[in-house]
Amino acid sequence: MRKWMCGILLPVLAACGGDPAKQPENNTQKPENTIALLYETKCGICHGKDGNMGAGGARKLSESTLDKAAVQLQIAKGKGAMPAFENQLSPEEISALADYVIGLRK
Ligand code: HEC
Repeated sequence: MRKWMCGILLPVLAACGGDPAKQPENNTQKPENTIALLYETKCGICHGKDGNMGAGGARKLSESTLDKAAVQLQIAKGKGAMPAFENQLSPEEISALADYVIGLRK
């Protein structure tokens, strides 16, 4: 009879932490598309998709001469029949929308 030393080490570490199937957040939406969508849903009803519609006395944005600060102010505070958006939109969104509507001018 021989005595065997049973000092066998099994350096097997179960690697259960890997999750190779998981991809980074699907965040491929372009900001410009988001702003265009925001414009269409929030502003397009009155101003039209391209800023040419003057529904209910809404000014044609394509013919507006306001500077960016004035446009931002008007979006935030509203004017006449135009509602205020400061409670619905972040300052970043208002700024981006101001750039967007200025971009509608020809
Ligand atoms: C309920 C209809 C309505 C909606 C929605 C609306 N507007 Fe207006 N908008 C108006 C009216 C009416 C005026 C004219 C106000 C006045 O001068 O009496 C106006 C004026 C403006 C002007 C000033 C144009 C100028 O040269 O005087 C800008 C800029 C403008 N809107 C941007 C926006 C943006 C951006 C949005 C979306 C966040 C928006 N509007 C949503 C009705 C609307």
